[in-house]
Amino acid sequence: MVGGNKIAVALSGITKRFPGVIANDQVDLELLEGEIHTLLGENGAGKSTLMNVLTGIYRPDAGTISIWGKAVQLENPKDAIEQGIGMVHQSFKLVPTHTVTENIVLGLGRGLAPVKIEEAQTKVAELSAQYGVKVDPAAYVWQLSIGEQQRVEILKILFRGAKILLLDEPTAVLTPQEADELFVTLRSMRAKGHSIVFISHKLDEVMAISDRVTVLRGGKNVGTVLVKDTNPQSLSNLMVGREIKFATFPRKEALGDPVLEVEGVHALNSRGLPALRDITFSVAAGEILGFAGVAGNGQQELAEVITGLLEPTAGSVRVNGVDMTRESARRFIDAGVSYVPADRHGVATVADMSLSHNFVLRRYREPKFAKGPFLNFAAAVGYARRLIKEFNISTPSHATPIRSLSGGNLQKVILAREMTTRHRLLVVMSATRGLDVGATEFVRETLNEHRHKGRAIVLISEDLEELLSLTNRIAVLFHGEIMGILDADKAEIASLGLMMAGQAQAEVA
Ligand SMILES: Nc1ncnc2c1ncn2[C@@H]1O[C@H](COP(=O)(O)OP(=O)(O)OP(=O)(O)O)[C@@H](O)[C@H]1O
Ligand SMILES: [Mg+2]
Repeated sequence: MVGGNKIAVALSGITKRFPGVIANDQVDLELLEGEIHTLLGENGAGKSTLMNVLTGIYRPDAGTISIWGKAVQLENPKDAIEQGIGMVHQSFKLVPTHTVTENIVLGLGRGLAPVKIEEAQTKVAELSAQYGVKVDPAAYVWQLSIGEQQRVEILKILFRGAKILLLDEPTAVLTPQEADELFVTLRSMRAKGHSIVFISHKLDEVMAISDRVTVLRGGKNVGTVLVKDTNPQSLSNLMVGREIKFATFPRKEALGDPVLEVEGVHALNSRGLPALRDITFSVAAGEILGFAGVAGNGQQELAEVITGLLEPTAGSVRVNGVDMTRESARRFIDAGVSYVPADRHGVATVADMSLSHNFVLRRYREPKFAKGPFLNFAAAVGYARRLIKEFNISTPSHATPIRSLSGGNLQKVILAREMTTRHRLLVVMSATRGLDVGATEFVRETLNEHRHKGRAIVLISEDLEELLSLTNRIAVLFHGEIMGILDADKAEIASLGLMMAGQAQAEVA
C-alpha cells in the first residue's frame, strides 16, 4: 500500500509547549495518500496534541505543515476543514436533541444557501452505504449508543469532503464487534485514497490495521516503521524505552468470607426500562469476579446497584454481611466500597480542580486530610506526590488542573485514587481502557496485589483476554441476565463468546 504514493501531510519540526511541558518536540511525520498510519506512544507522549495541531486547534510554537505539497497555516479548525482534514476526538461533540443528519450539517451553509435537510439526508444515507458506516440518518443522537455516535462523527467529516481523517483512540469506546466494523470502514476509506491517522494503545489492533506506525516518546518521534517489519514487542520497547514484561497472575488459593452478596436483583435503566433481571452472585475476600458481556447488557446498572448509585426494584445487596439495599452511595463508600466508573469525566472528577484536590475528593473528612473544618493541604499534596510517582502520572505538578492531563493520565488519576482509598470491595469498569501498555501492566499487577491482600474485586470488562488472565471466575451478562458463571481457569474464549450472544451456560458446555 505504501510506496510511490503522494504525500498528503508533511509535518516538519513541529514543537508545541504547554506550561511546564514540551508536548511535541520537533516532530517530523509524513502521511501518505491511501495510508493508515498509526500514532503510538505512552500516555502523555503527545499524540492528541500533534493531531490538534493538524486540525488547527493548537498553533505550533515552531515547525511547518504542508498539505499535498503546499505549506499551509492552520489558524483554526475551519482552515483545517478547508484543507480536507477532519478529526474524531476522544470525546464527542454532538447535540443529543438533534437528528443524525441535523448534527452532520450543523455549522454548514453559514453565509451560503441553507442546507436542505432532505437532500442532506439522502447524501448521508449514500455516504453511509458507500463506506459501510451503519447509522439511521433520521435517528436522534440521544437514542444512539456510543459506537453509533462515533459513526456520526465519521460521517460528519466525510460529508465535509475530508480526504485526511484523524481518529483519536476510536476503538477505546467500542465493543470488539464495533471495532471490527470500524476497521472495515477504514479499509474502504483507504481503498478510496483517503489518508488516515489512527491512534490506539492496543497493539494487536495496530498490527492488524496499519500500514506504518510512528512512535512518539516524550513528545519526540523515535521512529517510523512499516508494520510488516515490526512486531508488538519491539513496538512496545520503542514506545517505553525498555523491555515490557507481560506477567501472569496466580489466583489466591483460599478465599475469605463473602464481601458482596447480590440476590435476586432487578433494576431499571435511566429510561425506566428493565436493565437487570434476577441477578444473583457473590464475591469473596481475595477474589476477582469478572463480568463479561457486550456493552449495554446491564453492566452500567449492575455497577451502580452495587455501589449504591441505583436502587434495585427487587432483591437485595449485602456488603460485609450488612443489608445495604436501600442505602445511599455515601454509605456504600463508608462501608468500604470503591468505584472506578466507565465515564471518567462526569461522575469521577472535577476538571478545573488540581490533581491533589481530585485525589482527596472523597477523603476530605478523614482525620489524615482534615485540619479542623479545612483541608490539610500539606497532607493532600504529599499524598498526591506519592500517587503521581507510584502510578507514573505524567503531569507538570500536583497543582495542575486535571483538565490539562492527557486522556490516559486522567484515567490513572481516578484509578490511583480509588485503588488507594481503603476499601474492602473495588468495583472497576474497563480498568485499562485508554492506558498504554506499561500502565496496563501496572494496573493489572495492582489489582492482583489487592486480591492477595484479601480485597474483593468486581471487574467489568469487554476485554476477554484481561478477564481470563486476571479473574477467578467470569460471569456473562446478556440482556440484563447472568447466562452463567465460569471458572476462569477452565473458561474458553469461544464459549464465553456464545454466552455473550445469549446462550445459557448449560447449552454451551
Ligand atoms: N491544554 C493543555 N494544557 C496543558 N497541558 C496540556 C494540554 N494538552 C496536553 N497537555 C500536556 O501535553 C502532554 C501531551 O498530552 P497529549 O494529550 O498529547 O498526550 P497523548 O499522547 O494523547 O496521551 P494519551 O495516550 O493519554 O491520550 C501531556 O503532558 C499533557 O499533560
Ligand atoms: Mg490522547
